[in-house]
Amino acid sequence: MDRRLWWGGAATLLVTVFLALLAAPEANAQNPCLGKLNCSDCIRTPTCSWCSKSGLEDSKRCFQSNRKLGCPERHIHNPSIQYRKILAQELSRGRVAGAAAGAAGAAGGKGGASVSTSSSSSSSSSSSWSSSSSSSSSSRRKIVQIYPQRVGLKLRINEAYRIKFEYAQAEDYPVDLYYLMDLSKSMEDDKDKLSTLGDLLVASMRNVTSNFRLGFGSFVDKIVMPYVSTVPKNLEEPCPGCAAPYGFQNAMPLSEDAGEFAGKVKNAAVSGNLDAPEGGFDAIMQAIVCRDEIGWRNQARRLLVFSTDAGFHYAGDGKLGGIVKPNDGECHLDGRGLYTHSTLQDYPSISQINLKVKENSINVIFAVTGEQIGIYERLKDHVEGSSAGKLSNDSSNVVDLVREQYEKITSSVEMRDNATSSIVRLRYFTSGIEGKGDNIMRENHTCEGLKVGSKVNFEVEFLAKQCPRNRADWKQTIQIYPVGIDESLIVDLELLCDCQCERENHSEFEKKSEYCNKAGDLVCGVCQCDEQHFGPRCECDSHGEGKELDGVNLCRKDNTSLVDCSGRGSCICGQCHCDAKTNPEEKVWGRFCECDNFSCNYGGGEICSGSSHGVCDCGKCLCEPGWSGDACECSTVNTTCIGPKSTDICSGRGVCKCGKCLCDLANDDGDERYGGEYCERVPLTATHCSEYQACVQCQMYQKGEFNEEECAANCTAFVPLPVDYVEANEEEGEVMCIYFDDEGCRYKFVYLYNGTDVVIRAQEKLECPPVVHFLGIIFLVVGAIVLIGLILLLLWKLLTTIHDRREFAKFEKERMLAKWDTGENPIYKQATSTFKNPTYAGK
Ligand SMILES: *[C@@H]1O[C@H](CO)[C@@H](O)[C@H](O)[C@H]1NC(C)=O
Ligand SMILES: *[C@@H]1O[C@H](CO)[C@@H](O)[C@H](O)[C@H]1NC(C)=O
Ligand SMILES: *[C@@H]1O[C@H](CO)[C@@H](O)[C@H](O)[C@H]1NC(C)=O
Ligand SMILES: *[C@@H]1O[C@H](CO)[C@@H](O)[C@H](O)[C@H]1NC(C)=O
Ligand SMILES: *[C@@H]1O[C@H](CO)[C@@H](O)[C@H](O)[C@H]1NC(C)=O
Ligand SMILES: *[C@@H]1O[C@H](CO)[C@@H](O)[C@H](O)[C@H]1NC(C)=O
Ligand SMILES: *[C@@H]1O[C@H](CO)[C@@H](O)[C@H](O)[C@H]1NC(C)=O
Ligand SMILES: *[C@@H]1O[C@H](CO)[C@@H](O)[C@H](O)[C@H]1NC(C)=O
Ligand SMILES: *[C@@H]1O[C@H](CO)[C@@H](O)[C@H](O)[C@H]1NC(C)=O
Ligand SMILES: *[C@@H]1O[C@H](CO)[C@@H](O)[C@H](O)[C@H]1NC(C)=O
Ligand SMILES: *[C@@H]1O[C@H](CO)[C@@H](O)[C@H](O)[C@H]1NC(C)=O
Repeated sequence: MDRRLWWGGAATLLVTVFLALLAAPEANAQNPCLGKLNCSDCIRTPTCSWCSKSGLEDSKRCFQSNRKLGCPERHIHNPSIQYRKILAQELSRGRVAGAAAGAAGAAGGKGGASVSTSSSSSSSSSSSWSSSSSSSSSSRRKIVQIYPQRVGLKLRINEAYRIKFEYAQAEDYPVDLYYLMDLSKSMEDDKDKLSTLGDLLVASMRNVTSNFRLGFGSFVDKIVMPYVSTVPKNLEEPCPGCAAPYGFQNAMPLSEDAGEFAGKVKNAAVSGNLDAPEGGFDAIMQAIVCRDEIGWRNQARRLLVFSTDAGFHYAGDGKLGGIVKPNDGECHLDGRGLYTHSTLQDYPSISQINLKVKENSINVIFAVTGEQIGIYERLKDHVEGSSAGKLSNDSSNVVDLVREQYEKITSSVEMRDNATSSIVRLRYFTSGIEGKGDNIMRENHTCEGLKVGSKVNFEVEFLAKQCPRNRADWKQTIQIYPVGIDESLIVDLELLCDCQCERENHSEFEKKSEYCNKAGDLVCGVCQCDEQHFGPRCECDSHGEGKELDGVNLCRKDNTSLVDCSGRGSCICGQCHCDAKTNPEEKVWGRFCECDNFSCNYGGGEICSGSSHGVCDCGKCLCEPGWSGDACECSTVNTTCIGPKSTDICSGRGVCKCGKCLCDLANDDGDERYGGEYCERVPLTATHCSEYQACVQCQMYQKGEFNEEECAANCTAFVPLPVDYVEANEEEGEVMCIYFDDEGCRYKFVYLYNGTDVVIRAQEKLECPPVVHFLGIIFLVVGAIVLIGLILLLLWKLLTTIHDRREFAKFEKERMLAKWDTGENPIYKQATSTFKNPTYAGK
């Protein structure tokens, strides 16, 4: 039983430790909510919530939402991201347009999953100009290609939110194609070709959509010099067989009648001009903005084919002809479809064209000849949703070109928006065509390879980095639209930049609150003081000392300190109120709470060596009398520095520090010091032996530099005391001196100061080395060497004599043995020889 309890206890302990370890890094991690002192500042920080409960410390009101603070729910301000669909009609699927012509059902027909009731009136952005447009489109059921159509989003700062939306191309979507043609003389053959190709063009487009309409317009240039010759004759007929020049003429508004197109093109008059570039921009502008005159439908893919073989004039060029008024981007067509302001207004600029193209969701197709294609390829990059195609010099490929460009345009969808990027940043993600690919969302605002009916899933991420200064910008309407399609997703965006309780009519908003000493408003639990007051409860008057004075924080010692009141107190009205320490033995004080009585030097394990030695005052020990030192550890009494046989402090050779002698250097150049506890010991290099040596020598041994008289005269200070054997008693301060006199005899004496006099004891006898006779030794050595030499010589003589004698004796013997000196020839051989048998043993 006990054992089990023990295990249980151990396990609990382990779990606790483990949890503590887990929690520790989180606690240490930077808390972004810290230091947010008002509600709006707090909720602009992600993951932070504000507690407006009264009686809470102001710096603790902003807390991390995932931590419960014990704040009642109604006091928590943590606005969350809110998203709702306001208008959400299902996408149109299947054949919608052609078959439904004339059918009933205005906008919002098919099972519109409208979420909100409030704003169905503003269902479509196109409502503004739908009133007078073509009659056939209004009677047709509304086509929906983007889902949803309007949403509301409340967004917190720095918190991203993604909205899903879908795009699908409706089958048989209406197409409006306006053919805008340069009818200067050089395009005459093109015009003829186009008139023959008109039917084919219609047939080809009808293959794509049953609901196709075609229109035609032409342009030349402004009728002023230097674009067009203004000679009266030329104004009537600028070239042989030409019609009078004109700026732009809408020859045929959009119509389903294909036969009419061929006829209109054929009848269109070719004219002439002077310079190479033409006034095409004027024509484009009018063709775009004159929606009713041209007959653009709301719900249709709008194509503007711009065909030319020349360059273009643009804003600023008008000055050449004396036209300075800029283009106003308005429609100016008269009853015959002629541009009336051709000579009154300058050409539009590229960006004006781009703006109008965007506003009206028109796809411009530049069908230009080979020489010009380069310019228009570059132009198309500046005009949203436009493309450029190469036209053969007689326009014979126009049908293929239009068809090709149309397919290119419709095979991709590109999402754009009109958000102000400095306020809110939008990023698009798409997983591509539904049912194709891996369905992973990738950042991209375009999707390619579309076919009629294919659906594309998009996500758009909203992220607001900061709140705009202007309160009006906190609410935004953002339009997200597929390029070239007049449908859009409208986002009613509200940035959550402030708290409800900061609004004047909120229950937690109290004007001139009692709590704030009537000097400020109580807002979300904190005081917002008026100009003259400050402090947590507006209790500080700016006439008194403020926390800041001339930019200097009065609660900080200098600008290097990072915390108020050295971190040991709170700053109230510019004054530090030091915190009380939990230990009553410890005290903190000072202007900046910089002083205390517990951070001083320790001596003997106690602050300032204990209270009997000193007290700690603002980091320094204040010593009692009789004590000194950083920790009052030193006695100032000198007695411990005086030796037993001395009256001087440190024998007069040092200073008394902290009850101990600090001895002086013994000599000027050396680094040896006097030694001993009381500096009584003198190092050998620093003795006074030499002073006494001469007198001791003459007095004791009657030798040395002084003769008798001098000795008597000079050596009066002392009389050496003769002793048998002298030894220095160092403890008493005796110094041993050892010298050799001229004869090499050693004499020793010691001296000692006995207060007034010097007392010298000297060894009675000289210690002389035994006398050595050098000459004798030399003679002895020389004599020995000579003797050895003589002996060696004698020995040699003896040996040679013996040898000679022996040789002579041998010679004598041999002479006696010799026979031939008696006159016998040595080479004479006797005729007889004697042979002796070795085996013969007879005697
Ligand atoms: C909230 O505090 C910030 C600085 O901390 C300040 O800039 C802002 O004006 C304050 N907002 C309000 C409503 O007082
Ligand atoms: C229309 O499409 C059919 C089949 O898709 C094709 O045979 C015909 O040539 C097309 N007509 C035109 C004018 O492109
Ligand atoms: C069209 O251009 C080709 C070669 O670029 C040329 O041979 C032909 O004559 C031109 N046709 C016309 C009508 O200018
Ligand atoms: C977006 O997608 C298109 C094709 O759908 C591709 O060509 C393009 O490179 C993509 N862009 C990015 C940034 O991935
Ligand atoms: C975006 O377009 C919509 C609709 O045209 C408009 O109401 C809104 O003000 C525009 N937003 C911006 C930021 O321009
Ligand atoms: C007052 O409160 C109401 C809702 O209670 C709100 O609709 C209104 O905008 C508030 N007025 C101000 C000035 O904040
Ligand atoms: C601190 O104060 C000194 C002089 O008072 C000034 O030179 C210095 O720039 C200040 N430093 C900062 C970080 O403000
Ligand atoms: C510090 O001050 C407190 C209060 O005056 C006193 O009780 C305490 O003894 C002091 N401590 C030291 C170490 O002097
Ligand atoms: C100790 O010695 C110093 C000089 O070394 C002297 O000034 C001081 O008065 C002496 N103190 C006592 C208590 O004798
Ligand atoms: C010793 O005395 C003699 C004469 O009395 C004097 O000339 C000499 O300078 C003295 N020597 C010393 C070292 O005092
Ligand atoms: C020092 O020594 C001298 C000579 O030996 C002696 O006369 C004198 O009294 C001594 N002084 C002291 C203070 O011992």
